[in-house]
Parts: sequence; structure tokens; C-alpha cells
Amino acid sequence: VLRDYGISPEYGFLPAQLPLERLPDPYYNKWEAIVANLQGLILSKRLRGVVDRLPVLSTAGLEHDSEWRRAYSLLCFMAHGYIWGGNIPAERLPPPISIPLLHISAYLEVPPVATYAAVCLWNFKPLFADEHVDNLENLATLATFTGSIDESWFYLVSVAIEARGAPILPLMLAAIQAARIDDIDTVTACLSTFAERLDDLGTLLQRMHESCDPHAFYYHIRPFLAGSKNMEDAGLPNGVIYEDGTGTEKYRQYSGGSNTQSSLIQFFDIILGIEHFPTGEKREIASETEQQGRAPPAKHNFLLEMRKYMPGAHRRFLEDTALVANIRDYVEVHRANKELTVAYDACLAMLRAFRDKHINIVSRYIIVKSRESKSLARSTSPAAAHRKVDIASASAMQNNASGKKKLRGTGGTALISFLKQARDETGELAIDSW
Ligand code: HEM
Ligand code: ALA
Repeated sequence: VLRDYGISPEYGFLPAQLPLERLPDPYYNKWEAIVANLQGLILSKRLRGVVDRLPVLSTAGLEHDSEWRRAYSLLCFMAHGYIWGGNIPAERLPPPISIPLLHISAYLEVPPVATYAAVCLWNFKPLFADEHVDNLENLATLATFTGSIDESWFYLVSVAIEARGAPILPLMLAAIQAARIDDIDTVTACLSTFAERLDDLGTLLQRMHESCDPHAFYYHIRPFLAGSKNMEDAGLPNGVIYEDGTGTEKYRQYSGGSNTQSSLIQFFDIILGIEHFPTGEKREIASETEQQGRAPPAKHNFLLEMRKYMPGAHRRFLEDTALVANIRDYVEVHRANKELTVAYDACLAMLRAFRDKHINIVSRYIIVKSRESKSLARSTSPAAAHRKVDIASASAMQNNASGKKKLRGTGGTALISFLKQARDETGELAIDSW
């Protein structure tokens, strides 16, 4: 059943067939050559000129899905390099990128921007083919904007998390089955293993600090991942025009790349019965209005919106899993069973701890950096003047000195308030604390 959704029990949401390192058809050599030289082209500010002169290549030479995925990844790197790789962001993507990219995006059911799929899921290779990809020491990226180890590491931590988390998918689908036939021991065992795995994933997440430097991340990497939706601080308030040669194109707005687009973490929420509300809305308010007979507030929030940024099959897997998820109800009915509730609560605690670690990362990699850049922008010391070069190279994305623009995640959220609420919604369901 997993296979029907483009998911494998071993690799989870990573493709079962490893990402292609290049497109086999030499017809696409020009795309490959640009991405192979992306750093140099961005550094010399020549990428835009080169892309403008590219012919519009047809997608007819793409056969296997892995080729479509490779083409998508290549074009997304080119597109974001093109948009963010100049002194001011480009509002228009020229036909050599936009025409094939729109076609490929429609085929793969992903938006035409650098999604989590483009930069993480479909952009890695194992260093040694006989070793597993759940080991960070066995991973390398295929494409990056900057060529830095910081950028590779930033993507690879996610790849390793996806790989290490993959066995949780069949495990917890088995738990759903077990709950259906009231096999309480199996449900308990699955939940215990799940909790241990979650703990493992938290440890992996912490490894971000090892090789991704916050300065490099904030000033050099993150600007390339920015979106044009709910992210006024990035500098594309209207969005981007994908030129198709008709002259009737309209602005399109998309969120930038964000791990919120990871199906794995959303799967965890679904399986544990965790609900997320729009930022600022509390669960109590939601249930109160329901009791008063008024329509409950829409559960439509950013996390649901981000499902549209996942590959179509993965999005459908989450929707279908939500229809059959029964673990939370099962644990509630059997709340007298101590082992079961302890195992379930341990999963919530571990997922909450994962989100806590993530919040610490966001404050070190974004919040602290943005404050620092604001004070540097105000300062007039020579050292600060030197650092201002960096500030400029971070495009317009950090808070401007007047602080008028709101700091946003690349996905477009208000960062910490969104993340803290998601964390709190994870913890507060604990059965034993009722
Ligand atoms: C969401 C930053 C690494 C998982 C977010 C958001 C930000 C952020 C700002 C809010 C959404 C947005 O507007 O973009 C960072 C930074 C990272 C990092 C600075 C590293 C330097 C990771 C990694 C994972 C991850 C490695 C693991 C797979 C998530 C998830 C969300 C999220 C699941 C959605 C919120 C939630 O479910 O709690 N991240 N992230 N992040 N990030 Fe990260
Ligand atoms: N979502 C991450 C950010 O906002 C990448 O920087």
C-alpha cells in the first residue's frame, strides 16, 4: 500500500530509487552545466544573462519519474538562483526556466519553486552505495547555491532525518491495524519503538550545529530559499511572473522552501492525533465555539497549506492516513492501561522535545542573527561597515533597520509564535495529565 503513494518502507518519503546525479539525455546538458557551475555564475553575477540566452528545452526527453525529479530540482535551483542571485530580486522568470518548470511541476504535482522536495528529498546521494542513507556520514548533496558545506549540511540533516524516520511509517501503520483488532500489546510495542525513534531524530536534528554555521545560514544560504508569499521582508511583495511568451502572465505568489513541507513530521502529528490550529487560536476557543453551536474555526492552518507543497502522492498519503488514524482514540478508550498510556505519552513528549530543539535552532540561526544585523546596520564603526557588505548580500531579507518589516520564515510564518504553538499543541494532549 505504501508503494501506491510513492513511499518505500526503507526510505520513506525519499525516493526508493536514488536521485539521479545527472539527466541521461545529453539534450539537457545545458541545464546540467548551469547547475554544476551555479556558484560561479551567481558569484560573477552572470547567471541571469546565461539563463536569458538559454533555449527553451522541451520536457519530451524526460522518461522515468527520477528524470522528472532531477529536472525539477535543476530548474528550481536555477529559478531561485536567478531570482535571488542579483543585487535586487528578479520579479520575472524568463521562458527558458518558466516554461519547462511549469510543465514539470504540473506533472509532479508540486509548485514551481524550490520546495523541500527540490532541495532535500530529491537532491542527495550516498557517498558509499553499500551504506545506508540514514547515516549523515554517508551523505552528500547534488546541487547547492553556495557550494558551502554549511548549505549541504543544512539539507543533509533533513535527508538523514527522513531516512532514519522511514521505518516509522510501516511501524505505525501496523499499529493502526493492531488497534483495529484490539491487540493492545502490539499497539504498545509500536508506540514504544516510535518514541525511541523520535528521540533519535531529535539527536540528529541537534547535529545541525556541527557543520552549519548560523552566519553562513542567515546571510548566504537562507536568502536563496525565500518565497514571495507572506514574506514582505524578502523583497518580492507582488510575487513572480513566470514568463510563458504569451504576455498575459500574472504574478504568482509562493511560499519559499521550508521543512514544514516535510511529510514525515506531519505524519507524526496525524498518527498521534495531534491537531494544529491557526496561529493565535487556542484549542479551548475552538471547542468553546463548537459547544455554543457556532461553527468551529477552520482548522485550516499553515501546516495544511504546506501540504500543497509536497509531492502529490505524499499529500494524498497524509490525507488518507488521517482518515484511518485511530491510535489516539484507542489510547483514550484504554486509558486504564498504564503501559499503553505511558508509551503514547512518551511519543508526545519526544515530539515536543523535537520541536523544542527546533525552536532553539530557529532562535540561534534566525532570531539572534536578525537582531545582530539590525544593530550592525545602525552602528557606524569600521568593523560594522565591513560586516555591512554581508548584510547587503543577505538581500533585503533580514529585518530592515527601521524594524518596520516583520521577520518571517521562508515559509512565510511569524516564526517563533507559530513554532511555539505547534510545540505546545503537541505536548498538551498527554493522557496521563488529564
Ligand atoms: C518550520 C527554520 C531545520 C523541521 C520552520 C520554520 C522556520 C524554520 C523559520 C517556520 C516555518 C517557515 O515560515 O518557514 C529552520 C532553521 C533550520 C531548520 C533555521 C536549520 C538551520 C529543520 C530541520 C527539520 C525541521 C532539519 C527536520 C526535518 C521543521 C518543521 C517545521 C519547521 C517540521 C514545521 C513546524 C512544526 O511542525 O513544528 N523551520 N528549520 N527544520 N521546521 Fe525548520
Ligand atoms: N524555513 C527556514 C527559514 O525560515 C529555512 O529560514
